[in-house]
Amino acid sequence: MVAIRFIAADGSEQTIDATCGISLMENAIANGIEGIVALCGGNAYCGTCRVHVEPDWRAVTGLVTEMEEPMIEASGDTHPGVRLSCQIEVSPALEGLVVRTPESQE
Ligand code: FES
Repeated sequence: MVAIRFIAADGSEQTIDATCGISLMENAIANGIEGIVALCGGNAYCGTCRVHVEPDWRAVTGLVTEMEEPMIEASGDTHPGVRLSCQIEVSPALEGLVVRTPESQE
């Protein structure tokens, strides 16, 4: 288990004990993170699982992948730390990760 902190647009925070080997999105849903919708169930096809990775963590989580690009573009989310949380696999390297959820997943 690794501790991951989600900060909502209203400033409220929730730290979860995330399971390694599954996605950040799956961990968020399992722990009731309201800012993650994940309509497509993790197929990089809906863009409703977006998170904004804090600057210090972007090198660890990595950049937007080719698979993510179309959905992120379609969402209009231009935040420099944006990623699809369904495409981030939780690993021990993410211990202490901090991400923000956007104001809306529309
Ligand atoms: S859950 Fe749909 S894009 Fe991530």
